[in-house]
Amino acid sequence: MKKKWWHDKVAYQIYPKSFYDSNGDGIGDIPGIISKLDYLQDLGVDIIWLSPCYPSPLADQGYDISDYYNIDPRFGTMEDMEQLIAEAKKRNMYILMDLVVNHCSDEHEWFRKACEEPEGKYGNFFYLRDKDEEKLPTNWRSYFGGPVWEDLPGTNKQYLHVFHKKQPDLNWENPELREEVYKNINWWLEKGLGGFRIDAIINIKKALPLRDYEPDREDGLCSIHKMLKEAKGIGEFLGEMRDRTFKKYDAFSVGEVFNEKPEEIPDFIGDDGYFSSMFDFNETIFGQSEKGWYDAKPITPDDYKNCCFDAQEKAGNIGFLSNIIENHDEPRGVSRYIPEGDCCIESKKMLAALNFMLRGLPFIYQGQELGMENVPFTSIEQVDDISTLDEYRVALDAGLSPEEALKVAARYSRDNARTPMQWSDAPHAGFTTGTPWLDVNPNYTEINAAAQQEDSGSVRNFYKKLIALRKNPEYKDTVVYGSLEPVWREQHNLMAYYRKGDSTLLVIGNYQKEEQTVTLPAPYQKILLNNYPDTAEKNSEITLHGYQVLILEM
Ligand code: GLC
Ligand code: CA
Repeated sequence: MKKKWWHDKVAYQIYPKSFYDSNGDGIGDIPGIISKLDYLQDLGVDIIWLSPCYPSPLADQGYDISDYYNIDPRFGTMEDMEQLIAEAKKRNMYILMDLVVNHCSDEHEWFRKACEEPEGKYGNFFYLRDKDEEKLPTNWRSYFGGPVWEDLPGTNKQYLHVFHKKQPDLNWENPELREEVYKNINWWLEKGLGGFRIDAIINIKKALPLRDYEPDREDGLCSIHKMLKEAKGIGEFLGEMRDRTFKKYDAFSVGEVFNEKPEEIPDFIGDDGYFSSMFDFNETIFGQSEKGWYDAKPITPDDYKNCCFDAQEKAGNIGFLSNIIENHDEPRGVSRYIPEGDCCIESKKMLAALNFMLRGLPFIYQGQELGMENVPFTSIEQVDDISTLDEYRVALDAGLSPEEALKVAARYSRDNARTPMQWSDAPHAGFTTGTPWLDVNPNYTEINAAAQQEDSGSVRNFYKKLIALRKNPEYKDTVVYGSLEPVWREQHNLMAYYRKGDSTLLVIGNYQKEEQTVTLPAPYQKILLNNYPDTAEKNSEITLHGYQVLILEM
């Protein structure tokens, strides 16, 4: 594997709307991010991925872009963005923006022109079909519910949207559209961006000609996945995009890639892959059901372990996965991956270490470093996210009571991750002096950055130690490039693995509240990290406390 500048880095995702509000309007902004760069540097972060801050009607919180060359005034100005890039650079940090080009907003100029002249140049930027009163062009269900077809205003046509109706899909088959995308990427890279996180990219290739598939719910529609499975040739688009943009700048790119086939991994993230890296969503998608959230199966510690190891095995030495515990589309990882009732400082640290020490690039989502938890929603009125509202309705339609449906919505809601960052125990968690756009999690008086920065035993300080270990010249090569070998894989509620490089590290996590004993194959040399003040050991036997995690040098 060729070595790359970003391999040894640590990345951090910012959801701008909820990170830090500098002017009291209740919305996080770019000047707010700039003022927190020192906080991130202190943690050890090198790469910052910003969720979209381009002009947008915010139908899907910025993932519906109406101008790819600007900054939404709610988030700041282009000068602010340039200053952010410059301030980051001063601290040896890199800024990534979000590249959202499967679709744009229906308020984008291209779409407006397509409505005015569907047969003209911009009509061909989208998927348009003649409207037939009797039948939709295809029976696909959009990710956010309902059919993917919507009337094209002022015409007798319909347009395709695999996400929300305010997110019309762009037609990647059209070379003119692709040129526009590359021009935009290069324009930003010229400004000094480190690269991009690439949104929903797997959707850009449709199976042509468009057709119906077997319906899978009462609504007579079918999941988009059925079409995506048949779509061949995405590599041509992705390879062209890489050559025309990222490659020229040695930029970093990380793809939001779902459902890849094992044989595609070299194409995606091998030495000359389409992307530098792609997220491992094995744990995220575990237990998902075609029927909806209400039918999802919760993940157990053993499932978690197997998901991680399977992904590691698939990526092997081919390339670098990007490892996450959560992101802006998921509930908080500590609430999801730690069995109910066991979420505590120790278990949060255990989860952190088990994930962080995997081979690949660690991504931390804002607040994850504090062990931020899911929100105790008591009413669906508290939810803003369109996807949660849809899943709530799907659960009701399936016959769940409103209380049960709320429980389902609360468990998986994207808003769990979107509540404001908890900076301090000041009102609204110190996020804003005004009224936050989304309520803060009431636990901010206990879980907040200010308190954790003071406390050497905090989750945040544990993350800091994990990051420091990744950067420690003595262990860096092993942590970054060493191979990963599972140990005691069959042992229930235990996740353990070697990282082998110049040195040999053994990571052991007792994934339960009861004690558990392991027998080391050889004596260890040093404890590099421990989430307890002690270890109970006798000869080569270690009895781990509940949720104890150890990183040992062998
Ligand atoms: C990605 C984003 C998500 C968004 C969707 C549509 O999955 O992460 O937030 O809703 O794409 O752009
Ligand atoms: Ca603001």
